[in-house]
Amino acid sequence: MVPCPAMQDPDYVRRAFSSIADRYVVTNHVLSLGVDIWWRRLTARRVAALQPRRVLDLATGSGDLAAAIRKRLPEAEIVAADFCLPMLAHARKRGLQSLIVADAMALPFEDASFDAVTVAYGLRNMASWPEAAAEMARVLRPGGHLLVLDFSLPAGWLRAPYRFYLHRLLPTVAGWITRRREAYEYLGGSIERFPSGQAMESLLTTAGFTQTSTTPLMAGVSSLYVATR
Ligand SMILES: C[S@@+](CC[C@H](N)C(=O)[O-])C[C@H]1O[C@@H](n2cnc3c(N)ncnc32)[C@H](O)[C@@H]1O
Repeated sequence: MVPCPAMQDPDYVRRAFSSIADRYVVTNHVLSLGVDIWWRRLTARRVAALQPRRVLDLATGSGDLAAAIRKRLPEAEIVAADFCLPMLAHARKRGLQSLIVADAMALPFEDASFDAVTVAYGLRNMASWPEAAAEMARVLRPGGHLLVLDFSLPAGWLRAPYRFYLHRLLPTVAGWITRRREAYEYLGGSIERFPSGQAMESLLTTAGFTQTSTTPLMAGVSSLYVATR
């Protein structure tokens, strides 16, 4: 049993993802009815439109987004990093070449060494969102782009039923599949705490980004943020 922390404790996060790594992908697809695949494809399309030559996919996990980007940008160098080895083992099975064990809070890369940085469902789990965003800004070249895909809470009438799904239904179903109900109880709490919309854009602006934008997906269940370094 992994106790649920009040904040994003890196040791807890690493242990939680290690414990669900083998069933992470299938659980995602079941719980989202496959919509998560479409959200990553959309993000990959936005990355491809920017024509980056060197891309860093942070908190790559099982490499779903990195693989979707590689499909659209076969000539680009895609570096995929995560601090959880069991998750990276699944990314390796996808044939991703440049896999690196690294903490997004202290990246082992030169300043201004990437044209684009992506992070899907990862920033929310990092110990300090502003510090993580500043580290992403550091490794991006001026004019490079950051794309953050993550959960948010839908606005309006959908918010109450979605919260029921998030805090009741999801931990129960995910608990059956992964036998790690507590990891999915953590998920609901982390989504409640995570800044979204304008609050996320302000966080990115403070970290050194400009031209921030938010695209709500499925009425705001997820959001895609794009920002320029
Ligand atoms: C929900 S998974 C997302 C995986 C993948 N990006 C996706 O779209 O499915 C979150 C990942 O973030 C990683 N992670 C969390 N904090 C991290 C950090 N500080 N540095 C590197 N990876 C981190 C976890 O190990 C986990 O693999």
